Amino acid sequence: MTHRQHQEAADQTTPAQQGVQADARPNARKVFMRTYGCQMNVYDSERMNDVLGTEGFSATDSMEDADLVILNTCHIREKASEKVYSELGRIRKIKEERALAGKDMMVGVAGCVAQAEGDEISRRAPVVDLVFGPQSYHRLPELLAKASGGAKVVETEFDIDAKFEHLSERAARPVLKRPPAAFLTVQEGCDKFCTFCVVPYTRGAEVSRSVEQIVTEAKQMAASGVREITLLGQNVNAWHGLGANGETWGLGRLLRRLAEIDGLDRLRYTTSHPRDMADDLIEAHRDLAELMPYLHLPVQSGSDRILAAMNRKHTRDEYFRLVDRIREAAPDIALSCDFIVGFPGETDQDFQDTMDLIRRVEYGSAFSFKYSQRPGTPGATMSDQVPEDVKSARLLELQELIANQQTAFNASRQGMTCNVLIERKGRHAGQVVGKSPWLQPVAIDGSEDLIGTIQAVEITRIAANSLFGRLIAGHHDLIGSTADGHQGGGI
Ligand code: SAH
Ligand code: SF4
Ligand code: F3S
Repeated sequence: MTHRQHQEAADQTTPAQQGVQADARPNARKVFMRTYGCQMNVYDSERMNDVLGTEGFSATDSMEDADLVILNTCHIREKASEKVYSELGRIRKIKEERALAGKDMMVGVAGCVAQAEGDEISRRAPVVDLVFGPQSYHRLPELLAKASGGAKVVETEFDIDAKFEHLSERAARPVLKRPPAAFLTVQEGCDKFCTFCVVPYTRGAEVSRSVEQIVTEAKQMAASGVREITLLGQNVNAWHGLGANGETWGLGRLLRRLAEIDGLDRLRYTTSHPRDMADDLIEAHRDLAELMPYLHLPVQSGSDRILAAMNRKHTRDEYFRLVDRIREAAPDIALSCDFIVGFPGETDQDFQDTMDLIRRVEYGSAFSFKYSQRPGTPGATMSDQVPEDVKSARLLELQELIANQQTAFNASRQGMTCNVLIERKGRHAGQVVGKSPWLQPVAIDGSEDLIGTIQAVEITRIAANSLFGRLIAGHHDLIGSTADGHQGGGI
């Protein structure tokens, strides 16, 4: 994923090498999967692919060829969930064409729209055979069997523990080749109920996976070629689990444990809530070379009044103090954020407070959105909804400031040497692309056999959203070196 795709617009077909293998079995039933929304959906799609792989499916990136189409959906803003219905319109036509050729096609809607809207989806779009929420992916074979019997299937029960229990069984199966950077969900759901947000309703209550489950999965990922893991959770820094000795671990301790795994050279985590940033986690940024100097720490607004109305449960001053503590522990860290403009009741002054916060913090990058009224959330029925044109003007102003900060941050890397994990082929022949420690995409002239290695790279040129670099160590993998840009060390 590119830097910008980090939050939304993951919209993508799941790469064939993840889970179900493309063309591995030419006569196998084929699945086409499209993933919308956040990184957790990307992870979930991979896990669905794992399940479908054992059911004899192989992947296709052509919908026309698919016996099964799955849309893994996002409900976070109105635009995100409306995308699903326009896509279902297209799918209906393809399904009809296939039927004329005597071929079946089963259509499933998974993810957060499935959870939020349930049977409303197949009512509005009869092409849909199967609606299933994020907690039921381990039951996919059984749900598919039911649906192929002709029944419309809707499954929106919450049972996160059962999901992880069953999905963890992949550890016991033969290892498939994975991309060098991958996601691992450690925490799912949310108990915070920010007044704008659907996630507590679509992902359910906050649940942490056990240390043992996470370590087992991480080892298995490392054994299959993964060099960098991003731990995922809606409130990832609220993760807590029981260690073998019966003590409760926090995320800092988990990161220290994962850093010991052979072959796992880089760790990241997202998304963190400012209220759950424990000392131990901040210290991990100071102490762990494997923990990359990047932190996504959404604040949403810089106005105390709006923060209270959003139910974020902290003030702007508390956020400033937290940022200071983090920068003290890891001076080189790139901070990233999410902002919402036009939350109900937001005045010009409130908005200017947000702009002031951004100027004071100085971000490496950030995501920003116009407030979207989501059915069932308290914000949707608040008075003082902000007019669309005001939201648009504020978003533009905010995004200009963020773009300038991002450009300045990127420019500050010019001439530096840092480690880059090479992840994929570039757009041009003879070019590969990887990530800097600060999560910036870096394009380098080099051959494909560098993919999966970590290279020392000199940053030679800066573009709007990415960097260009030059290999300085030849084809030499820097495992175990300290030149990862951590705390400015080795740069
Ligand atoms: N757990 C994360 C946020 C997950 S949702 C946190 O607490 O920060 C990802 C982002 O989508 C949010 O940070 C917020 O900026 C945005 N978002 C969520 N609901 C929204 C809404 N109703 N309108 C606009 N943006 C929204
Ligand atoms: Fe949504 Fe708030 Fe939970 Fe984040 S913390 S997922 S914004 S309710
Ligand atoms: Fe979207 Fe669900 Fe993620 S609403 S942002 S896919 S948790």
